[in-house]
Amino acid sequence: MKPNTSAFVAFALLELFAIATVINISFCKGTSCIESEREALLKLKHDLRDPSNRLASWIGDNGDCCKWGGVFCSNFTGHVLELNLQNPFSPDDNEAYQRSKLVGKINPSLLELKHLVHLDLSGNDFQGIQIPKYLASLVNLRYLNLSEANFTGMIPHQLGNLSNLQYLDLTGYWFELHVDSFSWLSGLSLLEHFHMSWVNLTKASDWLLSINSLSSLKELKLSHCRVYHLPPLSSANISSLNALDLSGNYFNDTYIPSWVFGLSHLVFLDLGSNKFAGQIPSGLGNLTSLGHLDLSLNQFNSTKPGWLSKLNGLKYLSLRGNSFQGTISSIGLENLTSIKTLDIAFNEQLGGKIPNSFAKFCKLRVIDVSYVNLSQDISQVLDIFSACVADALESLFLRRSQFYGHLTNQLGRFKTLRALDLSNNTVNGPIPLSLGQIANLEYLDLSNNKLNGTVSEIHFLNLTQLLVFRAHGNSLVFKINPNWVPPFQLAFLELRSCHLGPRFPLWLQSQKKLYYLDISSTRISAKIPRGFWNSIFQYDYLNVSGNQIYGGVPKFDSPSVPLITTPSLLGSIFDLSNNALSGSIFHLICQGENFSKNIEFLKLSKNHFSEDIPDCWMNWPRLRMLNLGNNNFTGSLPMSIGALNSLMSLNLRNNRLSGIIPTSFRNLSILKALDMGENELGGNIPTWIGETFSRLMILNLRSNKFHGDFPIQLCRLGSLQILDVAYNSLSGTIPRCINNFSAMATTDSSDPNSGIFYASSGDNEIVEDALLVTKGFLVEYNSILNLVRSIDISKNNFSGEIPVEVTNLQGLQSLNLSHNLFTGRIPDNIGVMRSIESLDFSANQLSGQIPQSMSNLSFLNYLNLSNNNLNGEIPSSTQLQSFGASSFAGNDLCGAPLSNCTEKNILIPEDENGSGNEDDDEDGVDWLLYISMALGFVVGFWCFIGPLLIKRRWRYKYCHFLDRLWDGCFVRKCYQIFHVCTCVFYVLNQ
Ligand SMILES: *[C@@H]1O[C@H](CO)[C@@H](O)[C@H](O)[C@H]1NC(C)=O
Ligand SMILES: *[C@@H]1O[C@H](CO)[C@@H](O)[C@H](O)[C@H]1NC(C)=O
Repeated sequence: MKPNTSAFVAFALLELFAIATVINISFCKGTSCIESEREALLKLKHDLRDPSNRLASWIGDNGDCCKWGGVFCSNFTGHVLELNLQNPFSPDDNEAYQRSKLVGKINPSLLELKHLVHLDLSGNDFQGIQIPKYLASLVNLRYLNLSEANFTGMIPHQLGNLSNLQYLDLTGYWFELHVDSFSWLSGLSLLEHFHMSWVNLTKASDWLLSINSLSSLKELKLSHCRVYHLPPLSSANISSLNALDLSGNYFNDTYIPSWVFGLSHLVFLDLGSNKFAGQIPSGLGNLTSLGHLDLSLNQFNSTKPGWLSKLNGLKYLSLRGNSFQGTISSIGLENLTSIKTLDIAFNEQLGGKIPNSFAKFCKLRVIDVSYVNLSQDISQVLDIFSACVADALESLFLRRSQFYGHLTNQLGRFKTLRALDLSNNTVNGPIPLSLGQIANLEYLDLSNNKLNGTVSEIHFLNLTQLLVFRAHGNSLVFKINPNWVPPFQLAFLELRSCHLGPRFPLWLQSQKKLYYLDISSTRISAKIPRGFWNSIFQYDYLNVSGNQIYGGVPKFDSPSVPLITTPSLLGSIFDLSNNALSGSIFHLICQGENFSKNIEFLKLSKNHFSEDIPDCWMNWPRLRMLNLGNNNFTGSLPMSIGALNSLMSLNLRNNRLSGIIPTSFRNLSILKALDMGENELGGNIPTWIGETFSRLMILNLRSNKFHGDFPIQLCRLGSLQILDVAYNSLSGTIPRCINNFSAMATTDSSDPNSGIFYASSGDNEIVEDALLVTKGFLVEYNSILNLVRSIDISKNNFSGEIPVEVTNLQGLQSLNLSHNLFTGRIPDNIGVMRSIESLDFSANQLSGQIPQSMSNLSFLNYLNLSNNNLNGEIPSSTQLQSFGASSFAGNDLCGAPLSNCTEKNILIPEDENGSGNEDDDEDGVDWLLYISMALGFVVGFWCFIGPLLIKRRWRYKYCHFLDRLWDGCFVRKCYQIFHVCTCVFYVLNQ
């Protein structure tokens, strides 16, 4: 037996050696890939643009393609098994994501990779082609990911042939892909993961039945698929499902169908952004494995009791944006002892207080109760969370939740906090020094509270991570050592209306990453330090307006480059307005094209800047608003402003600019507001203003030296709401076509509560403001500008008759034709101008009688017809008689408020002195009256209306007072209140 044994051993060794050799050979062979597959890969590469060079290793005619990036081969056969060409970046990192896309076609040579098991092409840009049908011949595929790769059109049914698929991701981008039937899904019986979010499934009414046949399915993501209806199922085959995302489908169903409650393996359930309403059903309590439950943005108003306590493994719960009523305790959150993220924000009808039971949530990391009416003392909230999670909580969002009381030193115990939002509450008192201990803090928003006291370096002692700090809308006083070097590098700082001054906060110069800075109205009364000037173009948003900053703009040493390269929604804003800056703006406008090229809003108004407006506007190609008004600029208008073809608002008001409007300005074709009032500009009003500025809403050339005719072309400005060419030397007649000002012929406006709106960011809005003279006062409008419609052509040499077409402008509120040479009669049907509040025809040569219809102008509260040749009796109406005699003086009129008409209609001239005195009285400010009226509001309606009923003259004063209120009023609702008040008044007066 022995020799036999040794022979056997020898034989066995030989065989082992042979096997080893074979393995070795095939291993070596495996490392160099199959020729035809390498060629196929090279063809694939050839059809793709690769700006980030991801395929740099894909080279060579006889290289080993198994070693190329993204390619994995079999160790035994050398065939390519995996192709991972997905974008390596997430869309959150937008810039890198865009740059790293492969762009182009998919070469059909891909089919050469017959052994492919895993194909990932996600996050690339295949330029809107259809998903190739031939992919269906890669029958070995177990994993196919084509998500967000710019495929469009119908998803091919042929994919149903990929019977080995376990993972299929066809997530779209914005409904560019669609499916009309899902019958092909039945071929994918092994499918475990199916993602098809953002694909339009409106036509695939069989979607749920087909998916229900996939009994291996573990993960289903169909969010934002436009399905609108979640059907019932008699029995759910997909019972091994552990993740289900059906969010964003706006299901019209009020109730969650009961089959969902049978999916007992669910760990993840997202039903957010649908229209489920009423009580949250207790069936959800069956899903005891749930860790993540998102019911946000539905219309649930309450919840059945008890079910939540069965979900004791729940780590994430969002009930955000529903319509919960009652108190927070009624939701039954108290047993969620595993909870890490709890979001019940934006349930504005929910009240109560954060219950003490929340102190048991020892795993809590994120809690958001913003926009819930909690009316609770903030120190209580800090107490509750100090119990267990003080050293673990990461985010505390308490925005606009009616918290009050003081912040206590407890705050410093939350050492792991990264985000704290207490904004828009009524928290008062000082900020505790212990804030400086929260070393992880990145986001701190204390804005719009009643905080006061001083803020010092100690408050920021260990805040090395701070990125965002908002504290505007408090009465905080910053007392900071000028040599302080902050421990943080902020990105976003908003301290509007805090007290920072009088010195300039030098520590800002250390903030090299700051791109949003609002230190407007912070009582700074100093020069801007040189270092800060050199850095001003790093900002995407810079607002230092409303201070007393003085000095000139220096030559920049080495101008900084803007930090933000991704465009912000808001657009870049640069606001130095309302200060005392002086000298030339040459360096600011002309030095360095790099930094000015992103700025969209530039406001330098209300300073003492002087000299010429520099001619470098080609450096500011994205400007949408340019406001240089209220300075001392001289010289002519620079041609290059005409290069700003994105400009919507140009304000050069109140300078000393001269010369003509350059023809280059006709390129400003999307201008909405043009204000050049109060300068020394001359020449004719260019006819092309009417021809090219088709969107113009405001045209203000007031108080210049324009002469010549009113160009008939201006009639084309159908969007015009405000026309002011008063105080010029214009002559000729008013063209009859002015009834083409269609925006003035209507009282509609797109949004009656808004101004002319350009952009907004958080609490800041960029709206147009306009100065108007109405009812004898200069008024600044902004937030209600959309409502204002006014024509002022006074103090010119216009002649001829008032065209009757003017009465078509039935939305007009103010019409001033005074101090011209108009002759003829006041149009008879003037009474149809129902919106008119202010009418001034004084100092013309109008003749005839006052039309009877004028008494229909029920909103009229300023009228001046004085110094014309009008005659006859003043029509009697409460309206007209409520004006003083001065409104009618200097005519041949009779009747109240002038003296009675005699039978022969021979009129006794007014006592000039008498009426003059009364006039003074009327316009003067009778503070006693106003105070008594204010008291009247407090004491009671009758007390205040009483004196008005008794004394007629006071009534008119009250009207004037309301008028001024209305003028100065920036509150939107004021308009309505005003009219309600006047109506009450007029009713009582009848
Ligand atoms: C092939 O071999 C490498 C290293 O030798 C190993 O890391 C890899 O997992 C193997 N691949 C397969 C598909 O067996
Ligand atoms: C998709 O491709 C089309 C056509 O090339 C292109 O216009 C579009 O911008 C692309 N979309 C995305 C999101 O890349």
